Amino acid sequence: KSVTAFAPATVANVSCGFDILGFAIDELGDKVTVSLTDTPGLKMVRIEGDGGRLPYEVDKNTCSVAIQAMLDKLFFDKGMEISLYKGLPLGSGMGSSAASAAAALVAANALLGNPFEKKDLIPFAIESERIACGAAHADNVAPSLLGGFVLIRDYTPLDVVKLPVPKGLFCTLLHPHLELNTADSRSVLRKQISLKDATIQSGNIAGLIAGLFQGDLALISRSLKDVIAEPSRALLIPGFYELREAIKAAGALGSGISGSGPTVFILSPGKEIAQKVGQISKQVFEKIGLGVDVY
Ligand code: HSE
Repeated sequence: KSVTAFAPATVANVSCGFDILGFAIDELGDKVTVSLTDTPGLKMVRIEGDGGRLPYEVDKNTCSVAIQAMLDKLFFDKGMEISLYKGLPLGSGMGSSAASAAAALVAANALLGNPFEKKDLIPFAIESERIACGAAHADNVAPSLLGGFVLIRDYTPLDVVKLPVPKGLFCTLLHPHLELNTADSRSVLRKQISLKDATIQSGNIAGLIAGLFQGDLALISRSLKDVIAEPSRALLIPGFYELREAIKAAGALGSGISGSGPTVFILSPGKEIAQKVGQISKQVFEKIGLGVDVY
């Protein structure tokens, strides 16, 4: 008996919501197949699409780490074999490790007759983020599991809130051909922020959430700002600010770093603008000699 599940790419932070906001992307993602075996224990039997870079060791792979965290809560005396089919590039900021963990959990949970609700799988997926980047953040795994926009109001205890997705909101992802690992892009962050920055950031988070509830795209646009992580991380992404100017002029709502980068996300009011800003951004990156994939 085996089950295959898909889990989507995600944009974590959404500019102002460092570690507390994220949304899922339609279509792009990873697939995981999990099969029951009589031999106890977990085994990674196949990994495709990763260029041979992901570990097969069950205590290092995000799929098996997440499933093990789930099994630790159950009585389970059989085994599972896990196959991972990567659709997402590694180190891209699109929630690649989270998508693998989320798909693995959904498949394993289904195989056991769904003892857990989707929301209850989030703590297990967080364990895999701890392994992947050293930080147990939930802003990729929660939207990958639940879909749409998700707020992590608190981590201790975990308090996750699904938010509405306004009609007509489209996301373009630009993946410049650079690789940044999350641990490195967390290490460049300031450890202290000023009262002034905390106030600005709080206003933008509140504005973004109000904009999502009211379907107010102009308010969302004004709120897509980040004074905490972006100033340090944008330096790692050549062309980041030129791109912002170019896509705003073309009618996009705004742009930001997707998760810890280097992927940049752009939100647009409608599909046409989303496609147009994809083309424009490609030119911006190519002008500075950087290849880019547009999704
Ligand atoms: N919130 C995390 C960070 C997301 O910005 O480091 C990592 O994808």
